[in-house]
Amino acid sequence: MSTKITWLGHSAFALEIDGHPVLIDPFLTGNPLAAANPKHLDAEIIFLSHAHGDHLGDTVDIAQRTGAKVVTNWEIQAWLNNQGVGNTHAQNTGGGFDHGLVHCRFTVAHHSSSFPDGTYGGNPQGFVITTQNARIYYAGDTDLFSDMQLIGDLGIDLAFLPIGDNFTMGPADSLRAIQFIRPRFVIPMHYKTFPVIDQDAGTWANHVSNETGATPIVLDPGASYDLN
Ligand code: NI
Ligand code: MN
Repeated sequence: MSTKITWLGHSAFALEIDGHPVLIDPFLTGNPLAAANPKHLDAEIIFLSHAHGDHLGDTVDIAQRTGAKVVTNWEIQAWLNNQGVGNTHAQNTGGGFDHGLVHCRFTVAHHSSSFPDGTYGGNPQGFVITTQNARIYYAGDTDLFSDMQLIGDLGIDLAFLPIGDNFTMGPADSLRAIQFIRPRFVIPMHYKTFPVIDQDAGTWANHVSNETGATPIVLDPGASYDLN
Protein backbone atom coordinates (compact mmCIF):
# COMPACT_ATOMS: atom_id res chain seq x y z
CA MET A 1 0.00 0.00 0.00
CA SER A 2 1.22 3.46 -0.85
CA THR A 3 -0.29 6.91 -0.96
CA LYS A 4 1.07 9.47 -3.39
CA ILE A 5 -0.05 13.03 -2.75
CA THR A 6 0.11 15.74 -5.41
CA TRP A 7 -0.68 19.38 -4.69
CA LEU A 8 -2.78 20.85 -7.49
CA GLY A 9 -2.71 24.35 -5.96
CA HIS A 10 -4.91 26.01 -3.30
CA SER A 11 -6.69 23.23 -1.36
CA ALA A 12 -6.86 20.82 -4.29
CA PHE A 13 -5.02 17.52 -4.00
CA ALA A 14 -4.76 14.38 -6.08
CA LEU A 15 -4.19 11.24 -4.04
CA GLU A 16 -3.10 7.99 -5.59
CA ILE A 17 -3.99 5.28 -3.10
CA ASP A 18 -2.56 1.94 -4.12
CA GLY A 19 -2.98 3.06 -7.74
CA HIS A 20 -6.53 4.39 -7.30
CA PRO A 21 -7.07 8.10 -8.08
CA VAL A 22 -8.83 10.27 -5.50
CA LEU A 23 -9.36 14.03 -5.63
CA ILE A 24 -10.04 16.52 -2.85
CA ASP A 25 -11.62 19.94 -3.53
CA PRO A 26 -10.64 20.01 -7.23
CA PHE A 27 -10.58 23.76 -7.91
CA LEU A 28 -8.56 24.17 -11.11
CA THR A 29 -10.41 26.44 -13.54
CA GLY A 30 -9.72 29.97 -12.29
CA ASN A 31 -7.06 28.77 -9.84
CA PRO A 32 -3.88 30.79 -10.50
CA LEU A 33 -1.78 27.92 -9.08
CA ALA A 34 -3.61 25.14 -10.91
CA ALA A 35 -1.12 22.37 -11.63
CA ALA A 36 -3.35 20.22 -13.80
CA ASN A 37 -5.91 20.48 -16.58
CA PRO A 38 -9.21 19.28 -15.09
CA LYS A 39 -9.93 17.47 -18.35
CA HIS A 40 -6.90 15.24 -17.73
CA LEU A 41 -7.64 14.29 -14.12
CA ASP A 42 -8.93 10.87 -13.25
CA ALA A 43 -10.88 10.07 -10.10
CA GLU A 44 -12.76 7.24 -8.48
CA ILE A 45 -13.75 9.31 -5.46
CA ILE A 46 -13.93 13.10 -5.06
CA PHE A 47 -14.09 14.47 -1.52
CA LEU A 48 -15.65 17.93 -1.38
CA SER A 49 -15.37 19.88 1.88
CA HIS A 50 -17.82 22.73 1.21
CA ALA A 51 -19.63 24.62 -1.53
CA HIS A 52 -17.41 27.68 -2.00
CA GLY A 53 -16.22 28.11 -5.55
CA ASP A 54 -12.55 27.70 -4.62
CA HIS A 55 -13.33 24.12 -3.47
CA LEU A 56 -16.33 23.04 -5.58
CA GLY A 57 -14.26 24.10 -8.57
CA ASP A 58 -14.42 21.57 -11.40
CA THR A 59 -16.21 18.88 -9.39
CA VAL A 60 -19.27 18.68 -11.67
CA ASP A 61 -17.27 18.34 -14.90
CA ILE A 62 -14.80 15.82 -13.48
CA ALA A 63 -17.53 13.74 -11.85
CA GLN A 64 -19.60 13.63 -15.03
CA ARG A 65 -16.64 12.68 -17.20
CA THR A 66 -15.10 10.08 -14.87
CA GLY A 67 -18.17 8.79 -13.04
CA ALA A 68 -16.34 9.37 -9.75
CA LYS A 69 -18.35 9.15 -6.56
CA VAL A 70 -18.60 12.57 -4.91
CA VAL A 71 -18.51 12.35 -1.12
CA THR A 72 -19.78 15.54 0.50
CA ASN A 73 -22.48 16.93 2.80
CA TRP A 74 -26.22 16.40 2.28
CA GLU A 75 -26.98 19.83 0.86
CA ILE A 76 -24.15 19.72 -1.68
CA GLN A 77 -25.16 16.19 -2.65
CA ALA A 78 -28.69 17.39 -3.43
CA TRP A 79 -27.31 20.30 -5.47
CA LEU A 80 -25.01 17.96 -7.40
CA ASN A 81 -27.91 15.59 -8.13
CA ASN A 82 -29.77 18.58 -9.62
CA GLN A 83 -26.72 19.27 -11.81
CA GLY A 84 -26.93 15.73 -13.17
CA VAL A 85 -24.20 14.23 -10.98
CA GLY A 86 -25.83 11.05 -9.75
CA ASN A 87 -22.97 9.15 -8.15
CA THR A 88 -22.85 10.86 -4.77
CA HIS A 89 -22.63 9.90 -1.13
CA ALA A 90 -23.69 12.23 1.67
CA GLN A 91 -22.24 12.26 5.17
CA ASN A 92 -22.42 14.72 8.01
CA THR A 93 -20.28 15.79 10.94
CA GLY A 94 -19.09 12.89 13.09
CA GLY A 95 -20.27 10.30 10.59
CA GLY A 96 -17.91 7.72 9.14
CA PHE A 97 -18.40 5.41 6.17
CA ASP A 98 -16.31 2.71 4.56
CA HIS A 99 -15.96 3.57 0.86
CA GLY A 100 -13.97 0.41 0.16
CA LEU A 101 -10.76 2.09 -0.93
CA VAL A 102 -10.80 4.32 2.16
CA HIS A 103 -12.87 4.99 5.25
CA CYS A 104 -13.91 8.63 5.66
CA ARG A 105 -15.17 10.34 8.78
CA PHE A 106 -16.48 13.89 8.56
CA THR A 107 -15.25 16.43 11.10
CA VAL A 108 -16.39 19.88 12.06
CA ALA A 109 -14.80 22.86 10.28
CA HIS A 110 -15.41 26.41 11.50
CA HIS A 111 -16.18 28.28 8.30
CA SER A 112 -19.20 28.83 6.03
CA SER A 113 -20.53 27.04 2.96
CA SER A 114 -22.59 28.56 0.17
CA PHE A 115 -22.58 27.99 -3.57
CA PRO A 116 -21.25 30.69 -5.90
CA ASP A 117 -24.89 31.72 -6.59
CA GLY A 118 -25.56 32.14 -2.86
CA THR A 119 -27.51 28.89 -2.39
CA TYR A 120 -27.13 27.31 1.05
CA GLY A 121 -24.37 24.69 0.97
CA GLY A 122 -24.81 22.98 4.34
CA ASN A 123 -22.06 22.91 6.94
CA PRO A 124 -18.40 22.97 5.91
CA GLN A 125 -16.51 19.78 6.72
CA GLY A 126 -13.10 18.32 7.29
CA PHE A 127 -12.23 14.68 6.65
CA VAL A 128 -10.37 11.93 8.43
CA ILE A 129 -9.46 9.58 5.60
CA THR A 130 -8.13 6.17 6.60
CA THR A 131 -6.36 3.92 4.11
CA GLN A 132 -5.04 0.45 4.83
CA ASN A 133 -1.83 1.88 6.26
CA ALA A 134 -2.28 5.59 6.93
CA ARG A 135 -4.66 8.06 8.54
CA ILE A 136 -4.94 11.47 6.93
CA TYR A 137 -6.71 14.55 8.31
CA TYR A 138 -7.83 17.13 5.75
CA ALA A 139 -8.99 20.09 7.80
CA GLY A 140 -10.77 21.96 5.00
CA ASP A 141 -11.30 25.68 5.46
CA THR A 142 -11.35 26.24 9.20
CA ASP A 143 -10.30 28.23 12.21
CA LEU A 144 -8.22 26.63 14.91
CA PHE A 145 -10.36 24.71 17.42
CA SER A 146 -9.35 22.89 20.57
CA ASP A 147 -11.26 19.70 19.64
CA MET A 148 -8.49 19.10 17.11
CA GLN A 149 -6.95 17.33 20.10
CA LEU A 150 -9.64 14.65 19.78
CA ILE A 151 -8.80 14.23 16.09
CA GLY A 152 -5.17 13.91 17.13
CA ASP A 153 -6.13 11.13 19.54
CA LEU A 154 -7.06 9.04 16.48
CA GLY A 155 -3.38 8.95 15.50
CA ILE A 156 -2.84 11.10 12.42
CA ASP A 157 -0.01 10.32 10.01
CA LEU A 158 -0.53 13.33 7.76
CA ALA A 159 -2.49 16.55 8.23
CA PHE A 160 -3.46 19.02 5.51
CA LEU A 161 -3.91 22.42 7.18
CA PRO A 162 -4.81 25.84 5.80
CA ILE A 163 -2.21 28.52 6.58
CA GLY A 164 -3.39 31.40 4.40
CA ASP A 165 -5.02 33.53 7.10
CA ASN A 166 -7.84 35.99 6.22
CA PHE A 167 -10.42 33.25 5.33
CA THR A 168 -9.02 30.45 7.52
CA MET A 169 -6.47 30.02 10.28
CA GLY A 170 -3.12 31.60 9.58
CA PRO A 171 0.42 30.33 10.11
CA ALA A 172 0.59 31.04 13.86
CA ASP A 173 -2.71 29.30 14.64
CA SER A 174 -1.72 26.39 12.43
CA LEU A 175 1.23 25.76 14.78
CA ARG A 176 -1.21 25.39 17.68
CA ALA A 177 -3.34 23.12 15.50
CA ILE A 178 -0.32 20.91 14.81
CA GLN A 179 0.38 20.72 18.54
CA PHE A 180 -3.22 19.54 19.02
CA ILE A 181 -3.27 17.08 16.10
CA ARG A 182 0.26 15.68 16.58
CA PRO A 183 0.63 14.38 13.00
CA ARG A 184 3.85 12.83 11.71
CA PHE A 185 3.72 15.05 8.63
CA VAL A 186 1.90 18.26 7.77
CA ILE A 187 1.22 19.79 4.35
CA PRO A 188 0.12 23.46 4.11
CA MET A 189 -2.74 24.51 1.85
CA HIS A 190 -5.08 27.43 1.09
CA TYR A 191 -2.23 29.94 0.75
CA LYS A 192 -0.43 31.84 -2.01
CA THR A 193 -3.34 31.50 -4.44
CA PHE A 194 -4.52 35.09 -4.02
CA PRO A 195 -2.79 38.20 -2.57
CA VAL A 196 -4.89 38.19 0.64
CA ILE A 197 -3.72 34.68 1.54
CA ASP A 198 -0.08 35.04 0.51
CA GLN A 199 2.24 33.38 3.07
CA ASP A 200 5.89 32.36 3.19
CA ALA A 201 5.75 28.58 3.50
CA GLY A 202 9.50 28.35 4.14
CA THR A 203 9.22 30.48 7.26
CA TRP A 204 6.17 28.49 8.34
CA ALA A 205 8.07 25.23 7.83
CA ASN A 206 10.92 26.43 10.06
CA HIS A 207 8.43 27.18 12.83
CA VAL A 208 6.82 23.77 12.41
CA SER A 209 10.19 22.04 12.67
CA ASN A 210 11.25 24.07 15.72
CA GLU A 211 7.98 24.21 17.64
CA THR A 212 6.11 20.98 16.89
CA GLY A 213 6.87 17.28 16.53
CA ALA A 214 5.68 17.19 12.92
CA THR A 215 7.72 17.21 9.74
CA PRO A 216 6.54 19.93 7.33
CA ILE A 217 6.15 18.96 3.68
CA VAL A 218 6.03 22.07 1.49
CA LEU A 219 5.08 21.17 -2.07
CA ASP A 220 5.26 23.32 -5.16
CA PRO A 221 2.11 23.16 -7.28
CA GLY A 222 2.30 19.91 -9.24
CA ALA A 223 4.84 18.33 -6.90
CA SER A 224 4.19 15.04 -5.13
CA TYR A 225 5.03 13.37 -1.85
CA ASP A 226 4.98 9.64 -1.19
CA LEU A 227 3.53 8.86 2.22
CA ASN A 228 4.93 5.62 3.54
NI1 NI B 1 -14.29 28.43 1.90
MN1 MN C 1 -11.59 28.43 0.57
